[in-house]
Amino acid sequence: MAEKHDVVIIGAGAAGMMCAIEAGKRGRRVLVLDHAKAPGEKIRISGGGRCNFTNIHAGPKNFLSENPHFCKSALARYRPQDFVALVERHGITWHEKTLGQLFCDHSAKDIIRMLLAEMQQAGVVLRLATAISAIEKAASGFRVTTDDGPVEAASLVVASGGKSTPKMGATGFAYRIAEQFGLPIVETRPALVPLTLDPAQLEKIGQLAGVAADVEARCGKAAFREALLLTHRGLSGPAILQISSYWREGAEVVLRLMPDIDIASILKGMRRTNGRQAAHTALADILPRRLAQFFTDEAKLAGRMLADLSDKAIDALSASIQNWTLKPAGSEGYRTAEVTLGGVDTRALDSRTMQARQNPGLYFIGECIDVTGWLGGYNFQWAWASGFAAGQEV
Ligand code: FDA
Repeated sequence: MAEKHDVVIIGAGAAGMMCAIEAGKRGRRVLVLDHAKAPGEKIRISGGGRCNFTNIHAGPKNFLSENPHFCKSALARYRPQDFVALVERHGITWHEKTLGQLFCDHSAKDIIRMLLAEMQQAGVVLRLATAISAIEKAASGFRVTTDDGPVEAASLVVASGGKSTPKMGATGFAYRIAEQFGLPIVETRPALVPLTLDPAQLEKIGQLAGVAADVEARCGKAAFREALLLTHRGLSGPAILQISSYWREGAEVVLRLMPDIDIASILKGMRRTNGRQAAHTALADILPRRLAQFFTDEAKLAGRMLADLSDKAIDALSASIQNWTLKPAGSEGYRTAEVTLGGVDTRALDSRTMQARQNPGLYFIGECIDVTGWLGGYNFQWAWASGFAAGQEV
């Protein structure tokens, strides 16, 4: 005999726990299953241990999807302020870092404790370290076979996340369930991930590993103004993680270093006032020293005085810095990606409820759907909002 619940949720991550709380509050008997030993493992490691739990500016424009309209309904019905109110009800203090990103003052574990307390209050049953071997349709809804025995429920919510960071329990299981029930999948790829350079490029710029700078990173029409970090393997830092979601194999990434500064004008001014200064020394007033040396070497201006440089040479040097074009060879992949781009095709889901159109009772929420946020608390906001939406319906 199968154990009976109203709702079975696969995945005790951000989306699954939010959905469980909302469904439990409505009086539904909810069981959450997870193969991991602890709930919310990605919450625990997020935001450097402080969880960037939302972004006060979160709106549809901050999400990538083949259908950019899909996320609107859920985001409108559960807003960043709603999550902030929940956090404050639990006495968790927070701060805004930059660009609307809200972090816990103390620890990401506060968010997990909060969600567990809410689940307990809503009567949700949480079963961890439970492997799922099969899912099938049953007369009363869905039957899930676990190593703890079979369970049945009228509603099955798939909240098992994407493929990113497998060491934190990611499996891509949601896509297999979607395929089993005939839902199409938008091709998945790692996103919010460092980009790698080929050996020839690394030979040139590997010496810059560890250097950080303010940039505007562009790829196609997308542009992000944040920090760049050069590494032994290529490009990282928030600007690169952001642009990685838009980058495709073969495309170039254009970096505008020190985007607010007119480097050519400054160098020309210095040439008037201090022409005997070496070009790389002058440039080091504007850029980190190693970058200044690198760009003057590349322009074959090492050791040259500013007074010796023509306007054309200064303009070319400045352009090489503010239009620095690199062709990444690849990305660091799912191992280090923060999220998975693509996923369950939104055309197969109802945007108000997250229910599969052709499979009543089957829901997908969170990262496994083809809705991917920018870096900066947007992905958790999607997890909360989609979990909330399904939680009102299951
Ligand atoms: P999530 O992956 O959180 O949860 C899925 C759950 O399903 C897991 O508990 C997993 O164990 C379980 N599961 C998987 N396969 C299963 C199976 N076969 N059987 C049973 N259970 C299974 N976002 C943000 O907004 N702010 C931030 O600060 C960060 N920081 C950050 C840091 C790092 C290092 C990473 C990797 C990611 C982030 N993110 C983030 C992204 C954020 O973590 C992500 O978008 C959400 O966790 C997605 O929530 P979900 O609930 O959809 O999946």
